[in-house]
Amino acid sequence: MDESLSGDSSRSRTIRRCGLIVLLSGLAACGGGGASSSANNTGGTGTTISSVSPAGIVVAATPATVSLTGNNFAAGMTIAMSSSLGTTRITPTSVTSTSMVVSVPVSTLPSGNYVTLSVMPASGGAALASAILGVAGTARTLAADIQAIFDNAGCTSCHAGAVPSGGLDLTGGSSAAALINRNSVGCATRFRVTPGDPRRSSSVLVDKIQARSSGVAACSGNPMPPPGSTLGAQDIQAIIDWVAGGAN
Ligand code: HEC
Repeated sequence: MDESLSGDSSRSRTIRRCGLIVLLSGLAACGGGGASSSANNTGGTGTTISSVSPAGIVVAATPATVSLTGNNFAAGMTIAMSSSLGTTRITPTSVTSTSMVVSVPVSTLPSGNYVTLSVMPASGGAALASAILGVAGTARTLAADIQAIFDNAGCTSCHAGAVPSGGLDLTGGSSAAALINRNSVGCATRFRVTPGDPRRSSSVLVDKIQARSSGVAACSGNPMPPPGSTLGAQDIQAIIDWVAGGAN
């Protein structure tokens, strides 16, 4: 809220129009001001993205419908979709001040990875706000695909019981709550799994399982599994696809 309003010219207009009472009772009391003021907001001052839904998609022949919510979107703004394959410009199918719907050409995306969606101002210039959208090569779910990897790769020989290693319980029934949007113990400012965001800097699970093969150390501690056991390349990719596809 603070972030989206700071430096926003529509705010001062709204406050002048509605009077001091608004300052005491909140901007929401000033009905209708948001939509009309943001329609003029082609420069995109204060534009933010608060969520992307779904968080991740699976590569397919048909385009996927993706909704962005946020603040200070306006007609004429477009989405720049950037990946390792380049940048594509998308015109939203609908825009309000707080939502945008875009049809993403899924067949043109790199699989098992992510793309960056950036809101571009109608008037041209630099990106106003960006968010990550995961792109899975194959649809994976925790229950059908990933839990079996944790079990078969021996993760649960340490990550189980009353005092699981790293404070992380990977046994079936516990693993979803222990991973998804849950802070890492070793790298406390990061989530263990951020749905739709398989970047190592955003999902410590991905960081740990890529630490050995990439030669880039994990944000803390050992690669996973620790020295002595390994995780196959296909299993690593399945876990990345699961996170990229939205960690369902
Ligand atoms: C031999 C015991 C052992 C095995 C097997 C093991 N781990 Fe770990 N794991 C640990 C310990 C100890 C830590 C905490 C210290 C560290 O990060 O190195 C940890 C930390 C982690 C963390 C970070 C937790 C956090 O909150 O920071 C993740 C993610 C993880 N392990 C995933 C796995 C996965 C996935 C597997 C199976 C492929 C696995 N581990 C297998 C012992 C193990």
